[in-house]
Amino acid sequence: MKIAPSLLSADFARIAAQVAAVQSAGADYLHLDVMDGRFVPNLTWGPKIVEDLRGCSGLPFDCHLMVVEPERYVDEFRTAGADIITFHLEATPHAQRLLAHVRSLGAKAGIAICPQTPVAMLEDLMDDLDLILVMSVNPGFGGQSFIPRAIEKVRQARALIDRAGASCELEVDGGIGEENLRLLAAAGADVAVMGSSIFGSGDPGAMVKHLRAVLSESGAS
Ligand code: DX5
Ligand code: ZN
Repeated sequence: MKIAPSLLSADFARIAAQVAAVQSAGADYLHLDVMDGRFVPNLTWGPKIVEDLRGCSGLPFDCHLMVVEPERYVDEFRTAGADIITFHLEATPHAQRLLAHVRSLGAKAGIAICPQTPVAMLEDLMDDLDLILVMSVNPGFGGQSFIPRAIEKVRQARALIDRAGASCELEVDGGIGEENLRLLAAAGADVAVMGSSIFGSGDPGAMVKHLRAVLSESGAS
């Protein structure tokens, strides 16, 4: 299982050191949460920050766009250095077209679903997807409590991916710590996004190593 530290909870006054710490500890992706104050009630950053971060990390950049009209922004984030571009199914009426466009830019194309959106809504998009992101909190903030129903949604998404014979990755985001990490691995998740449990820990690098050990003990490394 891959670990994707979310920089939302990082200390941006020391960002290069924080990125280096999780990278050298074995993080698989850097998860970058883009919020517009409209799709979600919070603001973060635009492509300039992604471009600057690109200068201090070779890890795949996993950009999670929590914005309305994501079609207006994907080109800029790709140019800035995003490797995976994930937008919300709830944020655009033309998800298939946008997924195809993201792939045409040479990035991996992901769809995120909020807690109220059924996994079945993704069934007709399976040919166009490189990543499914199941939100296990309502998007917008770090440090929220995990919504237990997400475990069942991960099982459903795993079954959907397997049934379609698709190679797309299954990512989960929100409220993940050591305990539910094991449950999510067992339910079939491929990637865990973790913000506050890594960057709120005091030693992000040590925490990534610890989580890696937890996963390998549970047979999900
Ligand atoms: C929330 C973001 C998450 C956030 C997760 O809307 O999408 O990526 O950083 O933070 P934690 O792990 O603290 O719930
Ligand atoms: Zn996220």
